[in-house]
Amino acid sequence: MACDNEPMPQPYEYDVLIIGSGAAGLTVALNLPEHLKVCVVSKADISSGATLWAQGGIAAVLDDQDSTENHVQDTLSAGGGLCNEEAVRFTVDHSKTSIEWLIDIGVDFTRDTDAQLHLTREGGHSHRRIIHAADATGHAVSTTLTAQAQARPNIELRSGRVAVDLITNRKLALPGNRCVGAYILNLEDNHVELFRARFTVIATGGASKAYRYTTNPDGASGDGIAMAWRAGCRVANMEFNQFHPTCLYHPHAKSFLITEAVRGEGGLLKLPDGSRFMDRFDKRGELAPRDIVARAIDHEMKRLGADHLYLDISHKPEDFIRHHFPTIYEKCLEFGIDITREPIPVVPAAHYTCGGIVSDKRARTDINQLYVVGEAGFTGLHGANRMASNSLLECLVYGRAAAADITRREADIPPPPEAPAWDESQVRDSDEDVVISHNWDELRHFMWDYVGIVRTTKRLQRAKHRVDLLSQEIGEFYSNYRVTNDLLELRNLVTVSDLIICAALQRKESRGLHYTLDYPGLLHEARDTVLIPTTYRTPSP
Ligand code: FAD
Ligand code: SIN
Repeated sequence: MACDNEPMPQPYEYDVLIIGSGAAGLTVALNLPEHLKVCVVSKADISSGATLWAQGGIAAVLDDQDSTENHVQDTLSAGGGLCNEEAVRFTVDHSKTSIEWLIDIGVDFTRDTDAQLHLTREGGHSHRRIIHAADATGHAVSTTLTAQAQARPNIELRSGRVAVDLITNRKLALPGNRCVGAYILNLEDNHVELFRARFTVIATGGASKAYRYTTNPDGASGDGIAMAWRAGCRVANMEFNQFHPTCLYHPHAKSFLITEAVRGEGGLLKLPDGSRFMDRFDKRGELAPRDIVARAIDHEMKRLGADHLYLDISHKPEDFIRHHFPTIYEKCLEFGIDITREPIPVVPAAHYTCGGIVSDKRARTDINQLYVVGEAGFTGLHGANRMASNSLLECLVYGRAAAADITRREADIPPPPEAPAWDESQVRDSDEDVVISHNWDELRHFMWDYVGIVRTTKRLQRAKHRVDLLSQEIGEFYSNYRVTNDLLELRNLVTVSDLIICAALQRKESRGLHYTLDYPGLLHEARDTVLIPTTYRTPSP
């Protein structure tokens, strides 16, 4: 039902409420049976998540020379000994069918001249196994999924709707441990509405906006992770925030990624004097996993006092570069950089949240009838470092698993209980929004400086002290003033930053993306950092 933003009578009641319209959320929606009434909400446009921005592609075993075992072993190796092998095997086993589903619904992937799917290569992968649509894979996936959802009579797509908090039996003082739906801010009239549902799915993406420099879109403020934490779900491995090694360095280029596929197709990392350096850090050179490459760049930048390094593909033929990387070629040209003739200035930037809301293979969380899919979730697939192009795959595989589980159970799940409307009687409009903008900047600055690529205990403690102060200030602000999108995002960012810092302080070793000068070695036993909220309750089976 393509009914974006038609007025609807309240209260809203659905079989399935999906918060987030990226690859994960829309995959769930499209794999549910058509007799279920489904609502997908997005805080900005339907295609405003990270999915639209994905460049490199999706990892899958599609070539006869490749094997499931190779993909599994590469993922385990990139994950620094911390992946859940069962989750890795489950994901890789379902990679081919997930890609076939995307092709069936119309995603137009790049093909060779002989019409075979073209597979590119990225860091950590021992084979060519990244299926892609030139260098704009996310655009192809997102627009196809959205068009499919718009054509489905049982799916309502609602943009400009910001989930504020989940509603649970516990909050309603009812027995049991069930999710009932969510309070959702309607940005058209700035009122919070009640959405009740038999099943609720969090698909809100990652939290990389906690950092000053990021490849992510503005909405990546970890809302789902913060909401689930407040509602009583466990959250794991938040210390592993991935920094992408190569974001375009230019004063006017905000968050523009230079895909790892550029290195996969022969791009070389260089110092300002034109010499290469990656071989000094890893025998795989430019194709070492991301944590290693980002740390090497950070190390060389600090050593040389440089504000950026270079990625050079100009030694390849011009038509090869323009054919494989049309988006990057055009974008860089806008900034006066001709990538067919000169190197690209690059810096690392926060890119991906490896941790998240703890879930099982069916995407179930600690609260009954609450699911999580995509970057907001923690399935155990990525371990201490996500391998390139495994995240869109995770969105597809777990999105389909969540839909299958809901379909299996739905006949047994009764309608949600009644819940009260949002109470605004005690709050007023804010008269000092400067508190929000100031705290937002402060948070992202100290997260970058103290909780970045290289950490120390002292820096983490400094960050913890500051985040505690911000948390108190924002808590007071939230209790006194009417909610806005900026306030909600800041409140959530403060929560996820606190979770990142607490998890980083708990890890007394350097593993994968978490590197601390105080504990440079590896502990013998690899353990997840599972944070448990005081409101945690064991879900029923
Ligand atoms: P998203 O696509 O981020 O969608 C989140 C959705 O949640 C949005 O609709 C948003 O509006 C909504 N939302 C958030 N909070 C709220 C709220 N409070 N209320 C209502 N709605 C909310 N991965 C790969 O595998 N391959 C790649 O090539 C690749 N390239 C990338 C390039 C870039 C520049 C970036 C940033 C990431 C890339 N990634 C890539 C990572 C991958 O794109 C993401 O991990 C993935 O798209 C996440 O999908 P998602 O559905 O979980 O979330
Ligand atoms: C990229 O294209 O380099 C991003 C791939 C990813 O994040 O998986």
